Order: sequence, then structure tokens, then C-alpha cells
Amino acid sequence: MAAENIETIVNLSKRRGFVFPASEIYGGLGSSWDYGQLGVELANNIKKSWWNWLVYERDDIEGLDSSIIQNRLVWKYSGHEDTFSDPLVDCRDCNARLRQDKLEVENADSDTPKYKCSNCGSINLTDSRPFNLMFRTTLGAASSDEDPMALAYLRPETAQGIFINFANVLNTSRRKLPFGIAQIGKSFRNEVTPGNFIFRTREFEQMEMEYFCKPEEAPQLLEDWVANFQKWFASIGISAENLKLYEQTREELAHYAARTIDILYRFFPEREDEEKQFDELMGIANRTDFDLKTHSKKPEDAEGKRLNSDSTEDLSYFDEATKQRFYPYVIEPAVGVNRAMLAVLMDAYTEKTNDKGETRVILKLKPELAPVKVAVLPLAKNKPEIVEMARKLKKDLQPAMRAVYDDTGGIGKLYARQDEIGTPFCVTVDHESLEDEAVTVRDRDTWEQERVKVGELKDYLQKRLS
Ligand code: GAP
Repeated sequence: MAAENIETIVNLSKRRGFVFPASEIYGGLGSSWDYGQLGVELANNIKKSWWNWLVYERDDIEGLDSSIIQNRLVWKYSGHEDTFSDPLVDCRDCNARLRQDKLEVENADSDTPKYKCSNCGSINLTDSRPFNLMFRTTLGAASSDEDPMALAYLRPETAQGIFINFANVLNTSRRKLPFGIAQIGKSFRNEVTPGNFIFRTREFEQMEMEYFCKPEEAPQLLEDWVANFQKWFASIGISAENLKLYEQTREELAHYAARTIDILYRFFPEREDEEKQFDELMGIANRTDFDLKTHSKKPEDAEGKRLNSDSTEDLSYFDEATKQRFYPYVIEPAVGVNRAMLAVLMDAYTEKTNDKGETRVILKLKPELAPVKVAVLPLAKNKPEIVEMARKLKKDLQPAMRAVYDDTGGIGKLYARQDEIGTPFCVTVDHESLEDEAVTVRDRDTWEQERVKVGELKDYLQKRLS
């Protein structure tokens, strides 16, 4: 079972503290979201899983954390200043501002397509014009009119920070091809039509890895990384039946890509048309040698002058074995943290009826991702010895796993609350615990209970959590 629509997750998130509307007390800010006490833990656990899997478990990937704001020339040479735009149209009837490439076409067979306003259905739309998605800002006190180099952008992808550090990482880590550089961080896009909760926002977080290789290895590596990421999604609890591969058409490819395969997730299960139920979770692109070449110092002309002195570094690679110098190709798997989190939440969402006929929500998160691993609950909060024992247990468990203590309701309510936020285990301290030094451990998914000795509790939980 999974959530029937995104709205279910929006409600759960707001109710329990995963995600809140940003600037809510001032009326909100369209499609901006804040991550609450549970959301920050879940997002951190997803990032940890990705980082461990790529940087620690493999032997061919280094980490990086580059600046959000870079020299403007990075974005000039990457092609983003000229081409990172969406086709913008205005509806003359309802004034909606829309992305033309997301609109339905009224006359699909005609050579002169008429696009339909998604807001009011009108076909009375302006011609499209490119709208650059990069957020602009100014560095220091100068205005960008006086000094064009004072103009800066908030990065729209983390990838460029990796390319411009290619030589730094290569030379200091003494890597040989193939190897990768991984980075997690915020990116910003002034999206024309953000929406669908955290699916498309103007501020979001990416987990990107650039895998540098010999040109002839790139086609196979692209396939390998598609397969690897399908496995990673399975490991974080996303079911294969809710994933689908999509090969981008020539028209859809970004200016740098020779081939891109997207992994789609069933974000919109409520839609009748099965194809429309799926949308992009991540992309895996063959960026060729476009980026390393474009950021390299340009060669001298026939008279020995540099045609362009913007970059001071040549980002080519010297292969000791063949004594050849060339620009490596790059395979780039790029995932959004926020979309991964939405997919994880949707897939984990389950409802179960208890013996009183009440419907309960259970978030069947993989233990590795659960914001809280164990909740320690006293059965009687008016009995000081029980409270003291429960509080001590929580304290003892905390260094090894995220544990919470809760006594703010009856036991049924406390269990339900933990099920709803995906806590794999509840530990209950009762009157008997004071006599037999044992507690009841309740499993989130089966609701089965087991008596465990306090001295063995940490080991027992650690074993079951892993
Ligand atoms: N460096 C390549 C790149 O940025 P992309 O397909 O534009 O490729 C990669 O972005 C991933 O980042 C997407 O698959 C998606 O998960 C996430 N993403 C992109 N734009 C987003 C947005 N506006 N809001 C939330 N996530 C976004």
C-alpha cells in the first residue's frame, strides 16, 4: 500500500511536523516549505544513506562541498546564462503565467500548435519567450549596472561546483579514471510554475555525483548507474512497481547531454491515465566532455595569443598508461533530496484497522530512515518509579540510536502517534518492569509485543534496526 495522493502526505506532514508551509504566519510564500522536527531528520537520513552508499561503501568516489555563489563566469561558460530558461507564455484571458512545454495542445495534428491555458482553458496565449531560471543577486555594494562582475547567481545545480574543482580533487586525491565526486547542497531555480508540495520548489536540495571516465566507457557506465540507483531506491524502501525509466527525447535533452535516462516515481497515483501518474524523481545523464572543456583555459591562436583568458586552468586528464591527454566524459546521476523524501513518504504510507475497527496510519519507513528509532513510554505516568526507569532507559539508548521519551497520553494514543511517524519500536515500562527488570517491545508493522530484559535491550534493538 502507498499514499493515494500527495495531499495525504501534505496533511500528515503538517499534522506531525515533517513539513510546514514557509512564512506561514505572514500568509505563506508560494511553494516554499520548511522542514520540521521530523522532516529534518528524515531528509538527513536520506542524505546519509546516499553519502554512505557512494562515498564510504565504494572506493572510487570523493566528497565535496562547494559554494552556492560562484564567479559569474562559471554560469556564462556552463551555458546557463544563455540557455537555462523555460518557454514562458501569458494567458490573455486570465493573466496566468505558464510554461508552454507543460501545456496541452488543442490541435495536436497541426504544424502550428495552439496551446491551452491550464488555468482557464483559453487558447488566447502570447507567443512564448525564454525566461531564465537563475536567481540573480549582487555582490558587495556595487550595482551590477556599474560593474557587470558584481552580478552573481544562486546556483541552479550543484554540478558546476564539482566541474570547476575537478583538477583540485584529482591532484590532491591522486585519483585515476574512472572516479566520481559527490556533493549534496541547496540549488535555486526561479520556477515559473512551482507546485505539488515539495515536488517542484524554487529552493531545493540536490544530491549529485559526477562520475569521470574515458569517453568509450561512458555509454555502459550510464546503464550501470541507472541500475545502481534502482537498487539504492529499493534499499530506502521505494517499491519497484512505483518506479519507471524514461529516455529523454532529443528535444528534451539539456544543452550538455548526449543521453539522459530519468527514473520516474508514481507521484500522482490518483490520475486515471497511468502514464501521467509518473514524474521525474532523478536524471542520469551522459554530459560528455562538455563541462570540463567549457571550463578549460582556451588554446592560443596562430599568433600565440590566448583567445580567451577567462579560465586559468586546463581541466584535461593525462592517462599515464597510454600517454594521452584528453577531456574525460562525465556520467551524472542527479537526485533531488526533496523528491526522494516525498517518494519515501508516499511509499511508506499505510493504513491498518485495529480490533476496535479504527483506522490507523503506519509509516513503514526503513529503520535506517526513520526519524525516531525507538520511543520509550511509561505505562503509568503518575508512578514516579516507572517514569524514572523509562527516562533512564531513554538516556541509555540515546547515544546508540535516536530515542524519545513520551508520556503525554494513554498508551494506545502514544503507540498510534509513533506508528504515524514511522518509529520502528516502542518500549513500554510497566509495573512489572520494576520487579522483573524487563520491558515490552512493540513492533510498528506487526503490532506484536515481546518481553525483553533491560540489560539486553540495546543489543536487541540494534540487531533489529539493522
Ligand atoms: N545537474 C543536473 C540537474 O540539475 P535536473 O534534472 O535539472 O538535473 C536533478 O535536476 C534533480 O533535481 C531532479 O531530478 C529533481 O529530483 C531535482 N529538482 C530539479 N528541480 C527541482 C525543483 N524545482 N524542485 C525540487 N526538486 C528539483
